[in-house]
Amino acid sequence: MAGFDREQRGAELTPGEGSRSGKQAYVEAIFDRIAPRYDRMNRLMTLGLWWYWQWSFRRLAGIRPGDRVLDVGCGTAELSLLAARETGPGGRVTGVDIAEGMLRVCRQKIAGSPLAGRLEFLRADAQALPFPDGSFDVVVSGFMLRNVASLDRALGEMARVLRPGGRVAVLELTHPPSRWVAAPYLAYFRHVVPWLGRWARREGDPLPPYAWLPESLREIPPAPELARRLERAGFSRVAYRYLSAGVVAVHTGEKPGRRERGARPPA
Ligand SMILES: C[S@@+](CC[C@H](N)C(=O)[O-])C[C@H]1O[C@@H](n2cnc3c(N)ncnc32)[C@H](O)[C@@H]1O
Repeated sequence: MAGFDREQRGAELTPGEGSRSGKQAYVEAIFDRIAPRYDRMNRLMTLGLWWYWQWSFRRLAGIRPGDRVLDVGCGTAELSLLAARETGPGGRVTGVDIAEGMLRVCRQKIAGSPLAGRLEFLRADAQALPFPDGSFDVVVSGFMLRNVASLDRALGEMARVLRPGGRVAVLELTHPPSRWVAAPYLAYFRHVVPWLGRWARREGDPLPPYAWLPESLREIPPAPELARRLERAGFSRVAYRYLSAGVVAVHTGEKPGRRERGARPPA
């Protein structure tokens, strides 16, 4: 992978030889380190758009009372909390993440919250989810896909754990279709984000925490291609909507088959 070498990772981030790829170990180490600062940096780097994206995502995800929801790559539980509000007390939201640091923030965030009883968090890899087939009514994921070593394996796992008739909703950075937007957007990622990352760096960090962000953009296919990959993973009625002039996109789809909880057309 371009720009993804041993020196950049830093000696202590060198992955061990094992089942996980170098990229996955690298990503896990990055998110472990930035977890306590993640929410603050997220709001800063998205210039506050994060709230608007969450609001739009809520509408498009179509979570209903009583749903069993899986949030893959839950980070600091922002989408999990949003989902828990939608499911009501009869629902259940499971957040999984590969970085223990992120899960720690999730648990701190929900401690004492009235939503805590609907939420659980556990460490798991999106590419090998520890759930039986058809366990969830809705699978959501925010800004995770570009971080996985195998996009197709992660999409395949989302399809597997969804029940027939269940719904998937993915929020992810994308490539703006207009070059008038794409040029300043890329310049922002190349120049401003690394600068903000250096500013947020802490003593002892072996690499600027946001060095990975501009790099990770290359890992996500354009929205039409991601829609095809979702179809290839087994989803039907796949649709996507650009937000904020196409800097992010929400993809939705359904798992074909019997609908145990009533039909819901995609947005
Ligand atoms: C950019 S953050 C997004 C967090 C959150 N979903 C949000 O919308 O703010 C990406 C998250 O995906 C997690 N992640 C990356 N690769 C993963 C994998 N293979 N399995 C599970 N989580 C993963 C990271 O640890 C990180 O918490």
